[in-house]
Amino acid sequence: MTAINIALDGPAAAGKSTIAKHVAAQLGMIYVDTGAMYRAITYHYLKNKSQFTNFKDLISNIQLELIYDPDKGQRVLLQDEDITDYLRENDVTQNVSYVSSMQEVREFLVEAQQKLAIEKGIVMDGRDIGTTVLPNAELKVYMIASVEERAMRRLKDNEARGIDATYEQLMKDIAERDAYDMNREISPLRKADDAIEIDTTGLTIEQVTERIISLARSAQNQIN
Ligand code: C5P
Repeated sequence: MTAINIALDGPAAAGKSTIAKHVAAQLGMIYVDTGAMYRAITYHYLKNKSQFTNFKDLISNIQLELIYDPDKGQRVLLQDEDITDYLRENDVTQNVSYVSSMQEVREFLVEAQQKLAIEKGIVMDGRDIGTTVLPNAELKVYMIASVEERAMRRLKDNEARGIDATYEQLMKDIAERDAYDMNREISPLRKADDAIEIDTTGLTIEQVTERIISLARSAQNQIN
């Protein structure tokens, strides 16, 4: 299936990237993790902030590239260095909502994301994909889950990656990040009017993947 784009939005740790990867693999589509792009700019900001006076300068110096490794999936290159393994570190997570609220950052990344999706066949996950990046996507899904379940999923994910954090800390971080993302001025996190909401609380990865694949097939049938 290559003729459609799928926009997958929702709050932090709702399982978007896991589901997007499964959907993309099963439908032969390309997965684009836009959160990783905001995280890459945040990593660059934290590393170099003493050298820049504003975000315009920071962006003008950035060389960001997404590549696909057959074994590892999407990798993010910043100034030609693979920084993917640093993007989930706590300091990046704690600063990413702030950096993402900057107009210069959003303009830069939205344009890059729109270019990636021109050829279609993309599953893109983020916060503003259905509302701003791909407003004409053939399928828009808004995934939610209870904050308790999201914190538990993130805890397991962090353990697997060797990142330290307690369940309580993750609950707090997730709630704070959602509040920031929903209340920022430019493209805040919200469900697009034509998005289909899926509450994944208590559902398995397979169940959510199946549901989205079935929606994707219906969306494709509609345009054929
Ligand atoms: O999806 P992930 O948790 O990696 O996203 C990290 C942060 O990047 C979000 O909390 C949000 O602040 C920002 N983001 C965004 N727009 C997107 C994707 C992510 O503002 N499309």
